Amino acid sequence: MSKPSIVVVLGNRPQFVKHAALQHALNERADDLRVVVVDTGQHYDYELAGVFMDELNIAEPNYSLGVGSASHAEQLARILPPLEELLIREKPQAVVVYGDTNSTLGGALAASKLNIPVAHVEAGLRSFDRTMPEEINRVVTDHVSELLFCPTQVAVDNLAAAGIVSGVWLVGDVMADIAYMLAPAADERWPELRDRFGLESGEFGVVTVHRASNTEPAALAEIVDALTAADMPLIFPLHPRTQHAFEKAGLHVALSEIPGLSILPPLGYLHLAAVVRNSRLVLTDSGGLQKEAFVHGIPCITLRDTSEWVETVESGMNVLVHRDPDKVRAAIAHFADGMPQDPPQFYGEGDASQKIANVLVEHTARSDAFAT
Ligand code: UD1
Repeated sequence: MSKPSIVVVLGNRPQFVKHAALQHALNERADDLRVVVVDTGQHYDYELAGVFMDELNIAEPNYSLGVGSASHAEQLARILPPLEELLIREKPQAVVVYGDTNSTLGGALAASKLNIPVAHVEAGLRSFDRTMPEEINRVVTDHVSELLFCPTQVAVDNLAAAGIVSGVWLVGDVMADIAYMLAPAADERWPELRDRFGLESGEFGVVTVHRASNTEPAALAEIVDALTAADMPLIFPLHPRTQHAFEKAGLHVALSEIPGLSILPPLGYLHLAAVVRNSRLVLTDSGGLQKEAFVHGIPCITLRDTSEWVETVESGMNVLVHRDPDKVRAAIAHFADGMPQDPPQFYGEGDASQKIANVLVEHTARSDAFAT
């Protein structure tokens, strides 16, 4: 009998990171499970996709859908038909999706409509803000998933509150796995970055901004004020969405004139980890980076009102400031007063991906072959 198979759907920056962790664990179970990888192509620029594949040693995907940039509906419309076709052909015992992007939702919908079990990695996260496209993607994906891999107890509780209790596994966080694993490799990159950008360890902030709500023109003007209020050397690797938005709003000059701020192209995984680990603090609207800062012991100022990673906020390591300059100053003062000593490691022991791989092997060995 041929071994069971899974299809893994990925397509953008944070998913390459999550997949790097799981791929590692799945490779160790290669005798038990065949893995077919589908890249939707939601992210296609080398800086958002290829560099992650290269640095994180991600194997060439088996299929590339090439969906590219488009509206949410159009992106989904481009993902669903080819994905359905290849799922019918591949007949996997499960489809694995990561996180909360349009590629996650596309994978979850295509699979669930074919009655193929969906395995959601990073299930149960909630910002409780339904204006965020990611929140809609999470809620829908969790409701059609059969295996729900939660990074935290809070995520498990969120699912229970939504009536989802079966197939839920508390495993820890796959992004924390890879952060722990690659910290030494990231540190090797630091001297080169320090010299290239004239940085001093512990003296500068790392900025990232790309959320839809923060790339509206009015929001961008407030981001400029918030970054000015930080009043310290800042490096800002610019996501292409954000760069286009600053240019369109006519605010790119104002951004470049913020004292002490250096604009960089998007950084690969190891370079970003290297600068974060050597920074004084992080200013971001990224979900993943809030947690990575925490894992590396770096304080975070979040340019949002909500966080899915509530533990980081409750521990005092992360402060939500919206885009308010006064709150940025207050957060910096709060961190200067002293950081929590040895905050608990909420995100597991670095073995979340192994636990997920084990459950997938066990589950697929038991399930009947998929048939349309
Ligand atoms: C997506 C995810 C978000 C995730 C982020 C990581 C959704 C709804 N959002 O946001 O959750 O945190 O990825 O980066 O899925 N672009 C390029 N080159 C690329 C890809 C995108 O220039 O390779 C630009 C295009 O202008 C595009 C815009 O970014 O229109 C938006 O891209 P998209 O993938 O839709 O969403 P992100 O903002 O990247």
